[in-house]
Amino acid sequence: MTAVLSLSDVTLLHGDGDETVRALDSVSIEVAEGELVAVVGPSGSGKSSLLAVAGALTTPTSGQVRLGDVDLTTASPRELTRVRRQRIGFVFQSGNLVPALTSLDQVRLPLTFGKVADARDPRELLAEVGMEHKARRRPHELSGGERQRVGIARALVTRPEVLLVDEPTAALDRRRSQEVVGLLAREAHEHGVASIMVTHDHDVLHHCDRVLEMVDGRLGPVVAESV
Ligand SMILES: Nc1ncnc2c1ncn2[C@@H]1O[C@H](COP(=O)(O)OP(=O)(O)O)[C@@H](O)[C@H]1O
Ligand SMILES: [Mg+2]
Repeated sequence: MTAVLSLSDVTLLHGDGDETVRALDSVSIEVAEGELVAVVGPSGSGKSSLLAVAGALTTPTSGQVRLGDVDLTTASPRELTRVRRQRIGFVFQSGNLVPALTSLDQVRLPLTFGKVADARDPRELLAEVGMEHKARRRPHELSGGERQRVGIARALVTRPEVLLVDEPTAALDRRRSQEVVGLLAREAHEHGVASIMVTHDHDVLHHCDRVLEMVDGRLGPVVAESV
């Protein structure tokens, strides 16, 4: 297996002095092309911190983060901006859509910040996530599940190698949750995207290729009874 994304012995401290929080404690993980990895764990255990470090939004206190041939812990700010724009897709809990934009314009948005080689067609992508018929709607005219689908399409339009997803089903009912995570799995498998999804939702884990658990900043195999 060739890892697209790898974290080696990553530690992230927040704060200073007596107030220091060890959000990530010697975390190592490799994610391969086309693999959807789920990360479960209690609130405050470091799951969002893991995504922030993996997505070059936060530089870890120590350890190494690699995306392909780039070391994200030593790359220049310019290189990191390029990596975040083109090679990584983010999906957040609420979909994080821009209120004034139509679904189609949300998906086009990542292509407007600079040249993206080999982008996917926004219209085709919207169809692929089942939202073609609501291309002209704005977020307030969409359900939670529909917003998530648009958010996923937006994250994938640059054809990223890595997709990072934080609690995508937090606002969704059971059926929509299954649909959204099923969609993430399909995109990972069919387009070879190395994906990490953080979730509290144990009902969606069957869509994932691997499940890891975060406890107090440490990442490891799942303790059986917690799943
Ligand atoms: N920017 C920050 N400054 C200080 N502490 C933070 C910051 N971000 C997260 N933390 C702390 O780091 C720990 C892990 O947080 P987080 O990664 O958000 O966990 P989770 O996503 O699993 O709920 C928590 O104790 C949290 O309070
Ligand atoms: Mg979180």
